[in-house]
Amino acid sequence: MHFDILTLFPGLFTGAFEESIIKRAREAGLVTITLHNIREYAAGRHRITDDTPYGGGGGMIMKPEPIFAAVEAVLGERLETTPIILLTPKGRVFNQAVARELSRHRRLLLVCGRYEGVDERVHQHLATDELSIGDYVLSGGEVAAMVIVDAVTRLIPGVLGDPAATFEESHAEGLLEYPHYTRPPLFRDHQVPDVLLSGHHAEITRWRRQQALRHTWERRPDLLQTARLSEEDRAYLRQLEAES
Ligand code: 6GU
Repeated sequence: MHFDILTLFPGLFTGAFEESIIKRAREAGLVTITLHNIREYAAGRHRITDDTPYGGGGGMIMKPEPIFAAVEAVLGERLETTPIILLTPKGRVFNQAVARELSRHRRLLLVCGRYEGVDERVHQHLATDELSIGDYVLSGGEVAAMVIVDAVTRLIPGVLGDPAATFEESHAEGLLEYPHYTRPPLFRDHQVPDVLLSGHHAEITRWRRQQALRHTWERRPDLLQTARLSEEDRAYLRQLEAES
């Protein structure tokens, strides 16, 4: 997978891509990331990238020319075949299903919006997709780009050591994860649940499933609408409803 990231603040990304999983994926050649400074594609001695909005109202708007020029220079003949994703609070909301969909591409271009907005012609005539990472306001799309690169990278085959880990994790099956424990068995009066020390694998699997269902039911009941549930899962949820 190759990511091109267009931003006015490439320095924000150093660090995020130089540690942990993304670092290792890059070292293994599974992922390549190129940062492009939009300012370098702006015209004139001052390389201006933003301007005041037509019609008034405060704030600065990112100009279209530097963004179009940067995207066209970076993609060249791949312009028609590469997703051009604008990061904006107006986009569709990113989630695990979108991460899976993006991970099927060989190359993605992410444009980080900044300031109070981006000229509408970028939305209408350049971007092929627009993504938001949730219902809150960030100062720019840079943090959103890091989120997307992270979530997509871990889905690339070979990036994670244990393929079972991705499958079992939160949201992969549409439920929140069950609780994890490691040594010591007793820490400041707090015991690890007996079942996990019992060695009964079938009981452990059932306990974990019930914990995942209970936590999801308590905290994110909306996820139960789309989760894949067995008849035993549904029976356990009916029991929780009855007890409440
Ligand atoms: Cl992609 N950009 C900004 N500025 N704010 C956001 C966002 C993106 N996603 C959530 N909030």
